[in-house]
Amino acid sequence: MNDKSRYLPGLMPLPQKLKITGGENSDTAKAEVGFKKSGAIRREGYRLEFDGRNITIEYSDESGRAYAEAAAAALKRAKSAPALIIEDEPEYEYRGFSLDCARHSFKIDEIKRLIDAAAMYRLNRFHWHLTDDQGWRIEMKGLPKLNETGSSRKRSDFGGAVDEREYRALFTRGEIRDIIQYCADRHIEVIPEIDMPGHMSAAIASYPELSCTGEKIDVVTRQGVFKNTLCVSSEKTYEFVFKALDEVCELFPGEYIHIGGDETPTAHWESCPDCRRLKEELGLKDFRALQGVFCRRVEEYLASKGKKAIMWNESLYAGAPAKRTTVIQRWMEKGGVCADFASRGGRIIESDFFHYYCDYPFGMTPVKKTYSFDPKRLYKKSAAAAPYGIEAEMWTEYIDNFELLCYRYFPRLAAAAETAWGTRTDYEDFKRRFAQQLGALEALGIRPAPQSDWDVPALRRVPDILKFFSGTIKQALRPARRQPK
Ligand code: ACM
Ligand code: ZN
Repeated sequence: MNDKSRYLPGLMPLPQKLKITGGENSDTAKAEVGFKKSGAIRREGYRLEFDGRNITIEYSDESGRAYAEAAAAALKRAKSAPALIIEDEPEYEYRGFSLDCARHSFKIDEIKRLIDAAAMYRLNRFHWHLTDDQGWRIEMKGLPKLNETGSSRKRSDFGGAVDEREYRALFTRGEIRDIIQYCADRHIEVIPEIDMPGHMSAAIASYPELSCTGEKIDVVTRQGVFKNTLCVSSEKTYEFVFKALDEVCELFPGEYIHIGGDETPTAHWESCPDCRRLKEELGLKDFRALQGVFCRRVEEYLASKGKKAIMWNESLYAGAPAKRTTVIQRWMEKGGVCADFASRGGRIIESDFFHYYCDYPFGMTPVKKTYSFDPKRLYKKSAAAAPYGIEAEMWTEYIDNFELLCYRYFPRLAAAAETAWGTRTDYEDFKRRFAQQLGALEALGIRPAPQSDWDVPALRRVPDILKFFSGTIKQALRPARRQPK
């Protein structure tokens, strides 16, 4: 055990620097804590001094103060320590966690417990995936069909047992404001994702005129990538998108809005006379470039409202973004497009599918693999800047209850958080320290996966993966009912 974990039991992630300045151990539990704001300390950072009697904290901002208080509480838990100085600040400015509430939604109380755990790990961005093919979850004032039609699907067929019951979920504006405030109190910004121009079936089911075909479709009931895209050449689409974004920007006070841009099939654009004409008029080299046209227009609109956009990495292939302030989130790209973007000064959030997709079983993504991920690995060879941040993902096609969510997300969320803060240690040490803070997680009603499940032995990994995907295969083989093509 090193000094940091000896004198700061249960603090996760550990701080950047701890220096012993005195020889004798003395009582930390009785120490009084004094605070002073300091302009000399970097954002979210703090300096904590224990002089053998009392604790003095200098902090940069309210986040830094809260993180220093957590360190002081850990030092008091140690009961006895020599005089010491802690200097701490995060390595990455963007330290995110996500939750998909479109495929399966969760209770406000459950989301708050997740937020509490994330705050404990000093994460500072909650990426809330609120719209997708399988449901629209934000109550809208001016687009009521999203509330009525978009928020409900007739059944759920995500690979496990088929559930023939209607699935309906919608967060009221009051509930959303409550979550935003809850996060703000914990120094977390909420970033809503309105995924477009693909992943829009719930919106198209509500307003069929938004698609190239105008065909009436149902909200999607299964997992997958669907051809229902917004018609990118129609002004009706932009009227809808801007109206929705007006409400979203009014509701969410943060710096960023995530506009998706992933997994966008071009099939409907290829057979839409208006989209074909637009492609010709603009002299675009392929249909994918139409997505770039769409994303850039939405990006401009957000900029006019003082917001910055985040897009998934696919939008880079399509020629977006146009603005330097736009952030790209990489989940599945190894060809160098993201590194190129970073070398031109672009900002990247690393959410690597094989390491940070926390909804997959441990046979596919063992905790050791998540813990060992180096977010800089794709950016080392070029002149590219280091990533802007990292984010752990929680998709919920296969996760329909909070217990399973906790089992898959913990300890992976803590593992990603240590990398985000920049104080990852070795894996055995991580395991030991995670066990030390189990009580704090359990007090939040969060039960993580037991350590015996974290790193599935090689021989059991293939069956674990096959078991997981057999549901998807079975679902794909079942005849689709009322399902858009
Ligand atoms: C994604 O997983 N489609 C971002
Ligand atoms: Zn079209």
